[in-house]
Amino acid sequence: MRLNSPQINIITRACMKASRSLIRDFGEIENLQVSTKGPGDFVSSADKRTEKIIIEELQKAHPDYGIITEESGLINKSNTKNRWIIDPIDGTTNFLNGIPHFAISIGYEEEYEIKCGVIFDPIKNEMFVAEKGNGAYLNNSRIRVSNKKKINDALLVTGGPKQSSKIKEEIFSEYVKLSNSVLSPIRKFGSAALDIAYVSCGRFDGYWQRELKYWDIAAGIIILKEAGGFIDFFETDEAAPLKKNILASNSNIHSELKDLIIKKKY
Ligand code: IPD
Ligand code: CA
Ligand code: CA
Repeated sequence: MRLNSPQINIITRACMKASRSLIRDFGEIENLQVSTKGPGDFVSSADKRTEKIIIEELQKAHPDYGIITEESGLINKSNTKNRWIIDPIDGTTNFLNGIPHFAISIGYEEEYEIKCGVIFDPIKNEMFVAEKGNGAYLNNSRIRVSNKKKINDALLVTGGPKQSSKIKEEIFSEYVKLSNSVLSPIRKFGSAALDIAYVSCGRFDGYWQRELKYWDIAAGIIILKEAGGFIDFFETDEAAPLKKNILASNSNIHSELKDLIIKKKY
C-alpha cells in the first residue's frame, strides 16, 4: 500500500521541489570548502531558500494553515488547528561540511496531534513517510523498528550537546554512563530527523537526545510510532513547548532505556 492522503501528497510535492535546489546547493559546497570565504553564509542562504520553497508549496494548498518553522518562526499563529512543522535542513553541520547526511523534515499536526510526516534525505534518495493508522514507509516499502531484545546488544544513537547548552556536563556524563551499558559504541550522526527515521526502519535500536526543537522531530514522531516504536518525552519544560527531550526506541528495549535515561538507574 502507498500512502496518498491529500496532506502526504502536499508534503511530498514540497519536499521534491525543495530538494532540487538543495541538491544543487550541496554540489556548490565542495567548491566553497576550498575557497577562503568558506561555506558559512552560503549555507544559511540555502536553508532560507529551501524553507521558502517549502512554505510556498504548502501555502498554495492551504494558505490559512499555521506553520512552525526553524528559520521564519510562526506563520498564521492563530491557526493551531492545522499546522505544518518544518525543518528545511536538519543536519546543517553535515551539509556545511559536505557530508551527505541531512534531510528535509515536515510534519502535519491537527489539534496538536501529529497526523503525518515526511523525512526526505535527498542525497540518498530515501523518503520516510507515515500517516496515523496507515503504517510507515521508506520509499514504497513498509518499515518496522528492530526486534533487538536487550539494551546490551542495542545500537544506540544520540546527539548534542550544543555549545550553548547549560547542561553540557550532564549530557556528556549521561553519554559515558550509557556507553557502559552497551557493547557497540553509541553513534552521533548529526541529524535528529534521520536518527529517528533510522530507528523507525531498524538501522538503530534506540535514540535519545536532550534540548531538541519540535521541528527536529515532529515528522519523526509519527514515523516512529507507525513503525511500531515507542516514544517518551521527559523532563518537559511547560514554559517552552517547542523544546523537547526525547527517547525513542523499539518496543523491546524501551523500558530498559527509560530506566537508564529517565530513572537514571545506571
Ligand atoms: C540539529 C540536528 C542535530 C542535533 C541538533 C539540531 P539543525 O538540527 O538535528 O542532530 O543534535 O540539536 O539542532 O540545526 O541541523 O537543523
Ligand atoms: Ca534541526
Ligand atoms: Ca535546520
